[in-house]
Amino acid sequence: MINPQIPVRPAYFQDQFGRSKRKLRISVTDRCNFKCVYCMPEHPEWMKKHQLLSFEALLQFCQLMVEQGIQHIRITGGEPLMRQGVVHFIRDLQPLRQLGLARISMTTNGHYLSRYAQELKQAGLDDLNISLDSLDPQQFFTLTQKQLQPVLDGIQAAQQAHLPIKLNSVLIKGINDDQMVPLLQWSKARQIALRFIEFMPLDGDGHWSAAHVVTEQEILQRLSQHFPVEAIHSQGANPAREYRVDGHPVGIISTISHAFCGQCDRLRLSAQGELYNCLFAEQPVPLKVLIEQLQTHTAPVAREQLLQQLQSYIWQKKAGFHAIHSQATTTAGSTRKISMYMIGG
Ligand code: GTP
Ligand code: 5AD
Ligand code: SF4
Repeated sequence: MINPQIPVRPAYFQDQFGRSKRKLRISVTDRCNFKCVYCMPEHPEWMKKHQLLSFEALLQFCQLMVEQGIQHIRITGGEPLMRQGVVHFIRDLQPLRQLGLARISMTTNGHYLSRYAQELKQAGLDDLNISLDSLDPQQFFTLTQKQLQPVLDGIQAAQQAHLPIKLNSVLIKGINDDQMVPLLQWSKARQIALRFIEFMPLDGDGHWSAAHVVTEQEILQRLSQHFPVEAIHSQGANPAREYRVDGHPVGIISTISHAFCGQCDRLRLSAQGELYNCLFAEQPVPLKVLIEQLQTHTAPVAREQLLQQLQSYIWQKKAGFHAIHSQATTTAGSTRKISMYMIGG
């Protein structure tokens, strides 16, 4: 929540299309205990421990970013709860609220939440997005290579800890598109907001094809066969287009059929300190060395260099998914090596 006692800082980071940056997504690890078909490659090559930014260095970077107008930090992975010390890190972020940080969130697969939900709440986390792609244990296993029950227990633990939750369901044609109605009924019964996500071409092994995507229109068609559906527009910088289905809040993140890039206010930092100005950016800017210098006697120089690099790289942010994707598919092969698990969605 924005604290009315703390003046809102101007957003210093702007791109060439006039979009201000207010959200920073930080991947704290690329590791994950799940192997979602739409995300992980069959044989992931994990980052080495020494390549990761320390939480101390990350904290310095977060302060600098909040001073430049970042209001919302989302912690992602891989699976963020696999990185030791992440709960402490959330606690250490709290003083940044005085500088203008309004919200600290996490996106998780939910598997470890029974253990961590209470601690996360106490550490000052504001809210959680939890992946849940199927309520059928067998299908869930096919999708993730993990059991469903710990995730259901984790969701319950988060509710008991009074952490606001949104559920994320990536739909893949012929695999879990039969889950729309069960997921709607299940989330409605528990009063948890639900979002369906169009499968994006960022899976680890590059098996994505347009034929796998369940589009927003198809989702709405299916749901409206069973429930009243009401559109609630005004998307802004929210990735989801909002609806009420049977009176329940449902968002649809339709990057493929209705990209929301026009007002994108996000930046992403990988666990090894590479900044991406877009989820689909071909090239990041490596910032680890300069970020680490923020803790040394050369901090003032590092800070100036960082700000310069950030401003110039953010300025170059491209128009969005369709501009980048069509370029990558018309030139001879994409140079991009990163996939979803390395950048945290
Ligand atoms: P909120 O702040 O609650 O809106 O979270 P979020 O939707 O931004 O975050 P989450 O980590 O739950 O991501 C849900 C889905 O939205 C994932 O599939 C993300 O890849 C996708 N998403 C998040 N940010 C972007 C973005 O900048 N561009 C696109 N195309 N998709 C995004
Ligand atoms: N397409 C769409 N969403 C994806 N996610 C992971 N991979 C993909 C993909 N290829 C989602 C996960 C998680 C969020 C971080 O990103 O379901 O909720
Ligand atoms: Fe892990 Fe999330 Fe990727 Fe699934 S989508 S493999 S839970 S990082």
